[in-house]
Amino acid sequence: MTEAIIKFESVSKSFDGKNILQDISFEVFPGETFCIVGGSGTGKSVALKLLMGLMPVDEGKIFFLGQEVTALNERELNKMRIKIGMVFQSAALFDSMCVYDNVAYPIRELGGYSEDDIATMVCEKLAVVGLSDTASLFPADLSGGMRKRVGLARAIAANPEVIVYDEPTTGLDPANVRRVDERVRLLQEKYKVTSIVVSHDMASIYRVADRVALLHERTFGFIGTLSEFKKATHPLVKQFIHGEIGAE
Ligand SMILES: Nc1ncnc2c1ncn2[C@@H]1O[C@H](COP(=O)(O)OP(=O)(O)OP(=O)(O)O)[C@@H](O)[C@H]1O
Ligand SMILES: [Mg+2]
Repeated sequence: MTEAIIKFESVSKSFDGKNILQDISFEVFPGETFCIVGGSGTGKSVALKLLMGLMPVDEGKIFFLGQEVTALNERELNKMRIKIGMVFQSAALFDSMCVYDNVAYPIRELGGYSEDDIATMVCEKLAVVGLSDTASLFPADLSGGMRKRVGLARAIAANPEVIVYDEPTTGLDPANVRRVDERVRLLQEKYKVTSIVVSHDMASIYRVADRVALLHERTFGFIGTLSEFKKATHPLVKQFIHGEIGAE
């Protein structure tokens, strides 16, 4: 059996006595795109933050590339985070920097690259997202869909082994949703990256997911392959697909 890249082991998390995630376990394997879906407020973003070590777990363990995330100190966490590209729900670009500098930012943070190397990496990533001719533009000059794609280029700039997407297509029109999805898929095929995608968008999930996990009432009500998810024999999955438990 292949070793998992990401592993949650009986993880629980509460805020102010309110239990959000209860005893959740899942694994993500090399090269796969694992989609987490579920109604608003079910703890999808919290799960991503726990993985990134941005907040502590109450119980359980999380592993990333064999390392126990839940046992790392802040310095070790920073080193680990470099290996994970995070695409935020809002593109979260630096408005005062041009597209080139936005994408170069994580590479410069990593250190040790010449400006020539950086230029090669930035141009390659802008080409991947189909924005080669925007390097000198500023975020304010871009459409929402273009900003999302710059966010994607920035997340993959330093060649992370894993990309975590928190609702990468929310707020985009269908044409741009499709464009972002195509890039997500391309990254998987071209760079063999492992991804976790949190999404509300059924069309997107159908396009990018290898496996789907449905978060419902503090735990996973379903984890299975995309084709199992589509068959929708599970009542919770049926409800989700038909928009009855918070799919937008
Ligand atoms: N730092 C925090 N302090 C207190 N409560 C929090 C914190 N972060 C999240 N929560 C609560 O945890 C619950 C889950 O939040 P989370 O953001 O993970 O939901 P979500 O599934 O990502 O929802 P959405 O689809 O709307 O983004 C919510 O009730 C939220 O208010
Ligand atoms: Mg969220």
